[in-house]
Amino acid sequence: MLRCTGAVQTTNGAYPVNKRIVLLPGDGIGPEVTAQCVKVLRAVEKKYGLSFDTEECLIGGAAIDATGEPLPEATLAVCRKADAVLLGAVGGPKWDKSPRRPEAGLLAIRKELNLFANLRPALVLPELAALSALHPRAVEQGVDMLVVRELTGDVYFGQPAGEERREGRRVAFNTMIYNEDEVRRIARVAFSAARSRRGRVCSVDKSNVLHVGRLWRTVVDETHRDYPDTELTHMYVDNCAMQLVINPAQFDVILTGNLFGDILSDEAAAVTGSLGMLPSASLSGAPEDGGVGLYEPVHGSAPDIAGQDKANPFAAVLSLAMMLRLTLGLPEAADAVEKAVRAVLRDGRRTADTAAAGCKGPILGCNEAGDLTAASI
Ligand code: IPM
Ligand code: MG
Repeated sequence: MLRCTGAVQTTNGAYPVNKRIVLLPGDGIGPEVTAQCVKVLRAVEKKYGLSFDTEECLIGGAAIDATGEPLPEATLAVCRKADAVLLGAVGGPKWDKSPRRPEAGLLAIRKELNLFANLRPALVLPELAALSALHPRAVEQGVDMLVVRELTGDVYFGQPAGEERREGRRVAFNTMIYNEDEVRRIARVAFSAARSRRGRVCSVDKSNVLHVGRLWRTVVDETHRDYPDTELTHMYVDNCAMQLVINPAQFDVILTGNLFGDILSDEAAAVTGSLGMLPSASLSGAPEDGGVGLYEPVHGSAPDIAGQDKANPFAAVLSLAMMLRLTLGLPEAADAVEKAVRAVLRDGRRTADTAAAGCKGPILGCNEAGDLTAASI
């Protein structure tokens, strides 16, 4: 458990902080990228006179191996008492045939901590613009969007769900379902996020086909009445998938459900060209409402490169920056972490996955990338 004591100088003056963080390294490259975050956290402590004290817990495949459960009760209990959780990644081929899947641990922690609001910023950093899978024309106007994905409902959790035999055939089924409260609360998060950005929300659904989409659109429209200073448009999900590759610069905040958000946020990542750079936050309300926040890189466990010091730790480190800003109330420290990552990139140092964009000097391993970032704080 992290205890954070001391005072930090902010624009509002000095105030004391006393926050607790849990580390969930998980599987694959999760432990190595999480270790770099700890180095950066230590550098933040030093710079701002804070004192962090971390506790590591099990999740995912590592937890299955140790306890048989992807989210052990002990992990959940520690997380419930924490202010913030930093997760590496879960999953890997080792558990593909296991009766319990590592991913179930991630879904369970989201549900148990009521982390319904998933914020996934995707922006093309000027230093890495050459990595975008798109034509330079598409990204030259600047790509800077925030996918606000509902995270605890939809077809991911809807009941009934299962597999059975019907008339001698195997069938499998899931239920896509949202109630109006679930739609309203995530819409509020999107509109309030838009207020501190460019003020535009594009809500994505499939209301031309699905009942769920029609309720989604109606409730988003109703919620928008409380945010007249923001602009709301609607888009069908298939069109959105296309618009993301044709003209991603048109998007500010994309508001969508769990399944569409899963897909579109990976697509948004591909637009930036660097999945290894993208952070995320999962919250139980607008940041100002408090509650425990879970922070994790958008990338997965990358088992093919795990343990080889090849992973890009920046997505995890940038997730730590989001944690400092949104949950720990330390915006200066968050800025410092983001600036440190940019400083490493500006020096022309690149991890293997980002090497195509102006790499000067030898390719950075995960450890060295963490060391350089911590040193730049
Ligand atoms: C994500 C991942 C997860 C999801 C998996 C690992 C369960 O793809 O966070 O986007 O589908 O939500
Ligand atoms: Mg996903």
